[in-house]
Amino acid sequence: MSTVKDPSYHQLPEKDSSESAEEEYLIESNRVRPSKVVGKSTLFYAILLVSSLLSNLFLIVQLSNPASRRNGAQSDEMRTPFAGLVRDTEMVLEKTYVFENETEHNEFWENINVDAGLVALSDEWVREHGLQLGQRFPWDDTKGIYVLEGFHSMHCLKSIHDALTKLKAKRRPIYTWDHIMHCMDSIRKNIMCEASDLPLYSTPGEDPELGIGEVKQCRSWEALTAWSHEHTACYRLINETDAHMDRLERYKFCPEGSPYIERVREVFGDRTGVE
Ligand SMILES: *[C@@H]1O[C@H](CO)[C@@H](O)[C@H](O)[C@H]1NC(C)=O
Ligand SMILES: *[C@@H]1O[C@H](CO)[C@@H](O)[C@H](O)[C@H]1NC(C)=O
Repeated sequence: MSTVKDPSYHQLPEKDSSESAEEEYLIESNRVRPSKVVGKSTLFYAILLVSSLLSNLFLIVQLSNPASRRNGAQSDEMRTPFAGLVRDTEMVLEKTYVFENETEHNEFWENINVDAGLVALSDEWVREHGLQLGQRFPWDDTKGIYVLEGFHSMHCLKSIHDALTKLKAKRRPIYTWDHIMHCMDSIRKNIMCEASDLPLYSTPGEDPELGIGEVKQCRSWEALTAWSHEHTACYRLINETDAHMDRLERYKFCPEGSPYIERVREVFGDRTGVE
């Protein structure tokens, strides 16, 4: 399944992930105490060791508690609360690539796959994470359907691209005017929530470019996609233009080994999307 392929977007080496930052934090808090000690008796050292172990244990318990995680170590603060993503991926801002060939340009946008935006999450997990219950997932009544916001925004941008392209060609866009306006508003809110403070330098001249060559620290779209696959809703946005299609048809694409395959077979027989 292909998602956005952007040549300027690549993963950083492992060592920069906050996993190791978290380890460092633990080591740091260990380091300070014993070095200050000048005690003489073994008993003293024994007490010290025990108390150090206890405080480590306390720290570990704190770190594994989702509530304190949010106020805890800096690295944890920077982790997203649901998929646990960190800004471990660099994006180099390059000059906006303008396709010479309009057909190829449109294909680029159409080929951005947003199927992974739909996930099935268990009610238990959802309650633990302070979310509201979603519409029931067809193959497991203890799960709800959720749309990951990043993928929703990507869907919206695709819809806007489709609408502009079709209007230019005097053809009918896939989505209604109201849907496009909803999408614009949704992206606006995303931008405001992100409130990016990155100063983009301007090149000299009459027609300046912004931020060319600057490097951004980003979360990984691949990592988000991988997290989505772990919570697959067996979803594919097939027959996007067909408003009358049975929506269940879109939930029959379970990956191999999925626990829902039997349920899907009961409904669709051999017409499942299982490969
Ligand atoms: C644009 O690209 C398509 C597919 O790659 C090709 O079939 C078409 O001839 C190209 N059009 C022009 C004007 O170059
Ligand atoms: C959906 O589209 C596929 C082709 O991509 C077509 O074979 C199928 O009949 C369509 N299904 C419905 C319900 O329209």
